[in-house]
Amino acid sequence: MIKIGIVGIGTVGSAVIKNLQKNRDLIKSRAGKEIKIIKGVVRDINKHKNIDIPLTTDYKEVTRNPEIDIVVELMGGVDKAYEVVSDALKHKKAVITANKALLAYHRFELQKLAKTSFEYEASVAGGIPVIKALRDGLSANHILEIKGIINGTCNYILSEMKKGRNYKEVLKEAQKKGYAEADPSFDVGGYDAAHKLLILASIAYNIDAKPEDILIEGIENINLTDIEFAKEFGYEIKLLGIAKKLDKKIELRVHPTLIKKSEMIAKVDGVMNAISVIGDVVGETMYYGPGAGGDATASAVISDIIEIVRGSKKPMLGYKIPLEIEKCSLIKSEDIISKYYLRIAVKDELGVLEKIAHILAQNNISIESFLQKPRNSYVKLLFATHKAKEKEIKKAISIIQKLNFVIKPINYIRIEE
Ligand code: NAP
Ligand code: HSE
Repeated sequence: MIKIGIVGIGTVGSAVIKNLQKNRDLIKSRAGKEIKIIKGVVRDINKHKNIDIPLTTDYKEVTRNPEIDIVVELMGGVDKAYEVVSDALKHKKAVITANKALLAYHRFELQKLAKTSFEYEASVAGGIPVIKALRDGLSANHILEIKGIINGTCNYILSEMKKGRNYKEVLKEAQKKGYAEADPSFDVGGYDAAHKLLILASIAYNIDAKPEDILIEGIENINLTDIEFAKEFGYEIKLLGIAKKLDKKIELRVHPTLIKKSEMIAKVDGVMNAISVIGDVVGETMYYGPGAGGDATASAVISDIIEIVRGSKKPMLGYKIPLEIEKCSLIKSEDIISKYYLRIAVKDELGVLEKIAHILAQNNISIESFLQKPRNSYVKLLFATHKAKEKEIKKAISIIQKLNFVIKPINYIRIEE
């Protein structure tokens, strides 16, 4: 029998306990051994009266318990989780985590510590087995590009906003359904997607970047005008995580993105996630499924348990020997090149358009299309640009923002084609 200790019995932890029980015979048959959770760690035992496994508030009763083979970390957060997971690894436990924030900061240190198995399938895209696909299934490939919807909460919010619903109301609903992080600003601010992108990028490129090193923008500024513009010009707005290999440089970014309605990824709505991975040998592959929620995430956690019980330790990030042939470096955020959509609210005055167009041209930004939406007391100008450098668009926006006829903060969304 394999004995498990579980740290954190919230949305995901309770779904793991429930589904291990529900599919017990099948799981035993696939793993080859009976699996039993013998201890759980929570903050407040009184909240968990319906759980019929022994509980504690002291994680060491799990990480240092000689009876326990596998520690499953489902508590979230970075510092405390790092303490728990390191302690488990130091005490020779196999470890499973769903914690992308932890991995975004400490994956390379944990890889060094992990003499035992360390699996983390649930940390990216909930129920989609994209870690195993990238690390194992695509291991023969140089990865040219990863592009995906990797935050269920944001995709749910953007999908519901298309129906005219209010951002705050839909976010509350996503929290109720167990999709959002304990602090939902990690979701809507793009940080959760960035954590996941960094995990994928370290498997694809062995690159040790931190969230602070990459471009991260969330969906907080998207409004119904942007959604209307997208509709009118044949786009969908999606929060995307993008990793691209350009020569020996890697571009990593997370931001709301306008993508053509005809693209497969544009059709992915609700809590569903989808990730396109392009390998130099295989070409484009695509992974789709539920990106958040207790059951979907438990499916991935239990698959890690089965994998570990079956045996054969895999290199955590997929490299047995460090990849020395080509050391990749990160492209600076300011040098990223993209097309942009700009939303500028202005007073309805003579010469406004000419001044804006002039500033854009002075900063090497050429306009591809333009739409003017009159409102009662002002006008909304919506521009789509040709490709421009991040630093040039930011400079142009800061100059235009200061013009006295500009009456609201300018919003921009990158366009990916
Ligand atoms: P959650 O519902 O907030 O549950 C967290 C659990 O951890 C609770 O049982 C809590 O105890 C316990 N906990 C927190 N801090 C603790 C501490 N210092 N000591 C002991 N126990 C502690 O979170 P969740 O949604 O299940 O997410 C868990 C992890 O999975 C996170 O890393 C999250 O990012 C990741 N994840 C979540 C999803 C999802 O859809 N929810 C999907 C993929 C990955 P109490 O119950 O006593 O408060
Ligand atoms: N909060 C995350 C999301 C959970 O909405 O995608 C899954 O990682």
